[in-house]
Amino acid sequence: MISLLLVREELLMRVKNHPILKFEDKQEISFEFEGEEVIGYQGDSIASALIDNGVKTFGYSIKYHRPRGFYCAIGNCASCNMEVDGQPNVRTCLTALKPGMKVYIQRNKGEIK
Ligand code: FES
Repeated sequence: MISLLLVREELLMRVKNHPILKFEDKQEISFEFEGEEVIGYQGDSIASALIDNGVKTFGYSIKYHRPRGFYCAIGNCASCNMEVDGQPNVRTCLTALKPGMKVYIQRNKGEIK
């Protein structure tokens, strides 16, 4: 198992202050990533919440096991496929974040549990 230290960085990615745009405070949503509780916000996709938490690796390629992450953000590349609540190959860039979701890095083709 790959340590979370290898896939996370301390830098948070969410833009909170902007000179022109205003951001409303949104409700926090708690969910699980690799067995750890993490926080996203109402309106996030799973991918955006993970990126905000510093996660860059969402899965590994089938043949060479190279890390895969957020790429197209429109559901075309499958680079963001992850295992969500036991279901493999969930496109996390298109899937809305819900409280209590269990999200795991996908290895290989994924297995339905
Ligand atoms: S990032 Fe390409 S399908 Fe999600």
